[in-house]
Amino acid sequence: MSLDIVILAAGQGKRMCSDLPKVLHCIAGKPLLEHVIQTAELLKPNHAPIVVCGHGSSQVQENLAHRSITWALQSEQLGTAHALQQALPSLNSSGRVLVLCGDVPLITAQTLKNFIDAAPSNDAIGIVTAHLSNPTGLGRIIRDTHNMIQRIVEEKDAKVDERAIKEINAGIYVFPVEFLQKWLPTLKNHNAQKEYYLTDLIALAVQEGHPIFSTTSANQDEILGVNDRIQLAYLERCYQKRLMENLMRGGVSFYDPARVDIRGDVTIGQDTTVDINVILEGTVNIGKNCIIGPNTILRNVSIDNHVEIKAHSIIDGAEIASHCVIGPFARIRPFTKLQAESHIGNFVEIKNSEVGVGSKINHLSYIGDSLIGSKVNIGAGTITCNYDGVTKHRTIIHDKAFIGSNSQLVAPITIGEGATIAAGSTITRDAPAYQLTISRAQQRSIPNWQRPTKEKEK
Ligand code: UD1
Ligand code: CA
Repeated sequence: MSLDIVILAAGQGKRMCSDLPKVLHCIAGKPLLEHVIQTAELLKPNHAPIVVCGHGSSQVQENLAHRSITWALQSEQLGTAHALQQALPSLNSSGRVLVLCGDVPLITAQTLKNFIDAAPSNDAIGIVTAHLSNPTGLGRIIRDTHNMIQRIVEEKDAKVDERAIKEINAGIYVFPVEFLQKWLPTLKNHNAQKEYYLTDLIALAVQEGHPIFSTTSANQDEILGVNDRIQLAYLERCYQKRLMENLMRGGVSFYDPARVDIRGDVTIGQDTTVDINVILEGTVNIGKNCIIGPNTILRNVSIDNHVEIKAHSIIDGAEIASHCVIGPFARIRPFTKLQAESHIGNFVEIKNSEVGVGSKINHLSYIGDSLIGSKVNIGAGTITCNYDGVTKHRTIIHDKAFIGSNSQLVAPITIGEGATIAAGSTITRDAPAYQLTISRAQQRSIPNWQRPTKEKEK
């Protein structure tokens, strides 16, 4: 039987106190809704997931334009049942539908699979429930004396004894589509919130003699929703913990997994060690046997095996080959490629440049828009003057060149193979291969020169 997936995501999320629609708030750098979409895709539904959007719909659609989604619009947010009704035209009438909430981001595909597989028949209606020590704010599951589900009551409509129930509705359901077509339009909004509640379908189904089943999630973090920023921060920590544990199971060491944050899609190879206060953003791929030092930020970086990133380095948009050593206090900016065994030391900034095999830029330099060959040595304080106020120009340094300390290379310029640039030179024309090029004032000494003295000392 076909299975469609609908994700409800039209609500404003008033309790977030935000201009941003709730489902666009992020966990691990990714919108809540995108987490749910990714999980939905793992279930391999017959069609792209159907997302019901409404509040801030254009912003939501724009933000997720890179995903394959069928959108359904709920222009007025009249409740969860009304939201699901907007998706009805997109559903296969003879199939089933799995309903997810865009604000319950950590649900796993495995839990959903177990849930769907637990259906006793194709016409059964299912609910995911959980037992929470603090069920505040959630819908409670009312069972009869035979432990059969009777209905769901929202907290705002619940009597005192019902509020004491710890079994809650996670907001995840399976329905036969025909059932929804028949009964969704009949629901009323006679409740505390004047909303059309999806949860009211359960009592209706019981009346109609429909089989109802439920599975209970053992991992409570999975079914928690985000309604305010306190819950958002809590789920962020839960999710980070999950990510770190997966990495550790794959052979990565953390001095303290609670002090590393992933904000994107990250892979790390076996026997790599990650120190504290590391932030990994965007797409980060780190190889095996690397050392990632403390207080480093890596954004959209690919790092090969046996690389050492020392403390306080910030690397953004770079490709780093094996056996490189970087930092401490290095800043590597987008479109930089470091070939194997290159060394980038402290207070060095590199932008849009390629550094060849075994080359060294160890101290206090700015290298921009440059192509540097292999076995090049760039002395302390070297600056590529790449910008003339209008245009950026390239610097090309061939293999085995030696750039003396405190040199300025005014681009566009080419330094030949094996060339030596004397320390303190300002180089404005190409330097030939295997020659010393020097460009600085002649040193002279003035005999009998008197140092000025202060009045008092006289
Ligand atoms: C809902 C359930 C509650 C359950 C909880 C689990 C109802 C009536 N209540 O409550 O039993 O315990 O989820 O997290 O269903 N939405 C729309 N359109 C609307 C209203 C909501 O698309 O008109 C979407 C929201 O964007 C959200 C989801 O539906 O993703 C749930 O809505 P929310 O208002 O957060 O419901 P809860 O009060 O959390
Ligand atoms: Ca909610």
